[in-house]
Amino acid sequence: MIKPTSAQVNDRPAVIITDNGNVLEASLKGLSSRFHAIWLRDNGQDDRSVDKTNGQKLMALKDIPPDSLVESALLNESQDIQLVFGPDNWHTSIPFKWLWEHRYDSPEGPEQLLLAGEIDTWDSTLLRTLPETSFREASENPAVLLDWLQGIARYGAARMTGLPQKDLAVLDVISLFGFVRETNYGRYFEIRSRTSPINLAYTTRELQPHTDNPYRDPVPGLQFFSCMKNASDGGDSILVDGFRIAEILHREAPETFSRLSRYKVRFRYAGSDDMDLQASRPIIQRDVSGVVTGISFNNRSISALTDIPYDEMNDYYRDLRRFEELVGARELQVRFRLEPGELFVTDNTRVLHGRTGYSNSVSRWMQGAYADKDALYSKIRVLKSPRRC
Ligand code: FE2
Repeated sequence: MIKPTSAQVNDRPAVIITDNGNVLEASLKGLSSRFHAIWLRDNGQDDRSVDKTNGQKLMALKDIPPDSLVESALLNESQDIQLVFGPDNWHTSIPFKWLWEHRYDSPEGPEQLLLAGEIDTWDSTLLRTLPETSFREASENPAVLLDWLQGIARYGAARMTGLPQKDLAVLDVISLFGFVRETNYGRYFEIRSRTSPINLAYTTRELQPHTDNPYRDPVPGLQFFSCMKNASDGGDSILVDGFRIAEILHREAPETFSRLSRYKVRFRYAGSDDMDLQASRPIIQRDVSGVVTGISFNNRSISALTDIPYDEMNDYYRDLRRFEELVGARELQVRFRLEPGELFVTDNTRVLHGRTGYSNSVSRWMQGAYADKDALYSKIRVLKSPRRC
């Protein structure tokens, strides 16, 4: 992180070359942050470095001398830093604001976080504040749409009411920000009980909260369910925050957390003759920094465990049992009944969804579809800041 600086640093933006041109030190409001010469050269914001129409880089590292040094750095009245690099007398500029927003200087190294980004984990109390809007408001008011999409990003779940009274309104919801992710189930899927189901979702059984399709690579990022008709008895929706479970395990059972994030589980779906989908991933996925990036849990599609060391298999089964207990803990579950014209969406890489069983096998009818998360975050950025390049 940036560090407090000595008294000579102004409250106003300032830059100074140090370490014989190897470093530029930028300061603002008593804080300073260092930038390497090679990093600055690689991040020039001039027309030769970046295509202004699309923001894409025009140079590869082979175009940049490895011994680049900052020879001069001047902050002009527009708060742009005019930079000249040696040894090739390269001129570029970087807005101070852009530089400050992209600082990376930290005496301790990258911060070790369990979760990163603007994320709030939750338990059953989220029911009172689950992000919700109407289809009409989200369609007509970009600020409302932005708020709803940011709610999905923050909580991994949201509801929508007032969907158009027509077949496949769920696809209209996805069109508000992105594109349908088509799978072997089609562009959408009908969820109602069937006599010879290719998936247990198509029965009246209770469904343990799970993430969808962990047997795919990549898994669908967002899953949407719209209610066409609900059962007269039962069929309530259940949501659980997998990131909250990861937090609990990390705090209360570090070894369980470690094993569930270290060893891969094989997931498989071969429910029809023409499909044999398989993928392997840990239940709790982390990136190279240790940040939790995803949860995959679907007991129906876990194959025989063969990637756990012999000496740890019994422990791993205890770990899975503990994970399953937390999935079933009522204090972590948000439960609600979806009425016709209503929809819920989950971040399928984080939030588990399930349902209570129901008795009236002919009435409950939901329509589902998937979408990718990249379009969600793209739409959020565009709505927040239309001018980007
Ligand atoms: Fe599902």
